[in-house]
Amino acid sequence: MSNSIKPNTTGLIFAMREEQEGLQSFIQNKKVHHIAKRDFIQGELWGHPVVMVLSGIGKVAAASTTSLLIHHFQVNQLILSGVAGSTDPVLKVGDIVIGKELLQHDIDASPLFPRFEIPLTGKSRFFAQKDLLNEVQNATTRFIQSMKQHFSSAQLDEFQLQNVKLHTGLIASGDQFIHDSSVLNQLKQALPDLLAVEMEGAAIAQVCEEHDLAFVIIRTISDSANETAHIDFLSFVKNVAAPYSLGILKNYFENRIKS
Ligand code: ADE
Repeated sequence: MSNSIKPNTTGLIFAMREEQEGLQSFIQNKKVHHIAKRDFIQGELWGHPVVMVLSGIGKVAAASTTSLLIHHFQVNQLILSGVAGSTDPVLKVGDIVIGKELLQHDIDASPLFPRFEIPLTGKSRFFAQKDLLNEVQNATTRFIQSMKQHFSSAQLDEFQLQNVKLHTGLIASGDQFIHDSSVLNQLKQALPDLLAVEMEGAAIAQVCEEHDLAFVIIRTISDSANETAHIDFLSFVKNVAAPYSLGILKNYFENRIKS
């Protein structure tokens, strides 16, 4: 497979099928590779080589998928697009958060190591690469400015998307769907700068850091990580998060310099 890989290939990871589906129809010169019970869809998006894959949910699925993308496809950067729960009242459902820093909120080997630190690495936070972060922030800002082209006014009303904002900062990942205010409050106490929680980003970040690869995690806020978190989750993913992923990634690739 290595021989057919083009340089500068972007790995695109999605945790849920609905999020991947929109982009799939735009892929050119498509080839599907079935590895480790996943379909890796190789091809081009707006002239750029990509391999897109559905990781499944959780840190193990995300880490395993990242490793496969690196070793089978020699991707040189990774982008995950999906949804997250807000951990700060400033972030509303429908807003977008881009992870500048990623942390695993469920790793705790204390008292041997500080809470949140990956034992024997001295690290608890992984950082997105500046250039990729800037390019994706720009693509997202342009997407937000053009929301009216992507959604009908009925949809903008239904999902309350009139005043969508982009936030950049700390995202924490763990193998839990957080839907309990007391769990949320404890996390927020330990991590006051935390913006959002999800279940994959920091695992991807750790594997990328081990391989010196750039990554960026883009998340649409789907819920407030409290007792209301499950309400209409799938409808939101399908009707809002999936078109967001398509719009942001289209902007990103259309403006990316071809190598
Ligand atoms: N992804 C979307 N919402 C989430 C939540 N509340 N907890 C964990 N992952 C999520």
